[in-house]
Amino acid sequence: LASIQVDVSGVEPGMSLTVKWRGRPVFIRNRTEKEIEEARSVPMAELKDPVARNENLPADAQATDIDRSAGEGKENWLVMLGVCTHLGCVPLGQAGDFGGWFCPCHGSHYDTAGRIRKGPAPQNLHVPTFAFTSDTVIQIG
Ligand code: FES
Repeated sequence: LASIQVDVSGVEPGMSLTVKWRGRPVFIRNRTEKEIEEARSVPMAELKDPVARNENLPADAQATDIDRSAGEGKENWLVMLGVCTHLGCVPLGQAGDFGGWFCPCHGSHYDTAGRIRKGPAPQNLHVPTFAFTSDTVIQIG
């Protein structure tokens, strides 16, 4: 199947869901206000990978919090491939020095916008093609 539909109506702020898409995990997280604010307060100059890595945006879009998220009005939602950009392990959620994800394989820390902040991974977690088809359903792919 090229695309899947995911019902996120039960995913409250602070919760996340992992689904399988094309054989890979996809992380869907409903961020809290605090998590969003933490990500927004990071100066762009501190980012190891300044590119959004968001399939829904131009390839040169910057890794601002809004461009890592589902966009205006849906900025609480993150949808990302659960594949570490170092060597492909599956990072653990709500973990690591930046409160986002931590990859235990070689110690990569991602922030609450899924951006690489510390460790060997070279890129932010990738954002696949997705869209909200209703207020509570996300289509991935
Ligand atoms: Fe994640 Fe190496 S695969 S840090």
